[in-house]
Amino acid sequence: MGNILLKNGRLPDGQTCNIMIEDERIAYIGSSFIKNCLEIDCTGYHFLPGIIDVHTHIRDMDLSYKEDWFSASQAAVAGGVTTVCDMPNTRPATFDEASLKVKKDAAKKSIANYSYNFGVTESNEKEIKSAASINALKMFMAESSSGYVVEQPEVVKKVLQIAKEINKPVIVHSELQTCVEAFEKKYQATIGNHNKIRNPQCAIKATELLIKLAAQTGAKVYLAHISTEQEIEMIRQAKNAGLDNLFCEITPHHLFINEDVLKVAGNFGKVNPPLRSKSDNNALEWAIINGIADTIGTDHAPHSLEEKQKEYVKAPSGFPGLETSFALMLQLVHSGKITLTKLTEIMSENPAHIFNFKDRGMLQIGKYADIAIVDLNEEWRVDPKEFRTKAKYSPFSGMNLKGKVKMTLVNGNLVYNHGKITDIKGKEVEFN
Ligand code: DOR
Ligand code: ZN
Repeated sequence: MGNILLKNGRLPDGQTCNIMIEDERIAYIGSSFIKNCLEIDCTGYHFLPGIIDVHTHIRDMDLSYKEDWFSASQAAVAGGVTTVCDMPNTRPATFDEASLKVKKDAAKKSIANYSYNFGVTESNEKEIKSAASINALKMFMAESSSGYVVEQPEVVKKVLQIAKEINKPVIVHSELQTCVEAFEKKYQATIGNHNKIRNPQCAIKATELLIKLAAQTGAKVYLAHISTEQEIEMIRQAKNAGLDNLFCEITPHHLFINEDVLKVAGNFGKVNPPLRSKSDNNALEWAIINGIADTIGTDHAPHSLEEKQKEYVKAPSGFPGLETSFALMLQLVHSGKITLTKLTEIMSENPAHIFNFKDRGMLQIGKYADIAIVDLNEEWRVDPKEFRTKAKYSPFSGMNLKGKVKMTLVNGNLVYNHGKITDIKGKEVEFN
């Protein structure tokens, strides 16, 4: 394809400009008009760096009835997400060479860019060390559609040492399995008790251990979906004391909703870690405003409607997030709590930086043209029936949001254009 000129949009700081794309990359940003390009009029819209979600459950393979790389990546680009990093709790699970290869084949269906987080078990050190081109390790310290758990402090420490050795971050699901099991005995199994059963204490204890071990090992520890006020305070203290290899991810659902919605949402709001309380929502917001939170992760975790409609104990945890994440997060900009530039830092720039992505995450000459073109003011209502993910339900169903993705470019290809998808494949992420 010839060169593209994205005309007359605004950068996150509000400045009007044109962006020229040549050979998949941004070649020019400025006020000049460049001739002989395919012109796309972006008047009234903002240019944002494509969102990078390092926490996506794509499923596919034996679980493709829940989601596959084509459906998930359509949901991604419709939500302005240009890169997804898949989690290893697939079937087959990704913790050896053979399963990674199967996943790499499945990922060829993706229209977003992609990478893989490699699963950690108690005994796959050899496999970890020989895993090629992965984004990170993923360690579950409590069971959550994962099938395996690592929670003994000495094993966790060993994993962190291996991560340090191979120079990859470890993404951690920070809840302790034995702690969850103890609380399970104390409370009746109902969705209303989910936050008591998967008790805040279980997350707090796991995070406390991880902060200690991050300091001891020097490994990059990326705390996924942090959900409680107490964890935020511990992370704040650790960062203040200079621990710069610790990273904190927040999800839109832990930020904007709490266990009150379960009365309406029921198991559609069942997720791990659970939706917490209003004061936790406030603490997470504070963490974003004050730079304690590094990134936003969707934890897009699709299950079938039929599965989610089962009784509490049988209903799996998780719900889709790719198509609501950006518009939810934008509410912080509309309310004046953060700037649009800050939003692009936590949704694009910081993930690219923490995970060492090559040439992605920013609107800059020479970077890949991964660009979300958004109308900050379009109002819409979350209607899961319109989702592109196979998981057509959401605890945000019916919520009114302001801000919509209009077009998305992945490697300079206009794959999402006002609701229409063009099937041009994404690329595997490369690392610095
Ligand atoms: O609620 C969740 N669902 N939390 C996780 O950690 C895993 C995810 C899933 O894969 O369904
Ligand atoms: Zn997850």
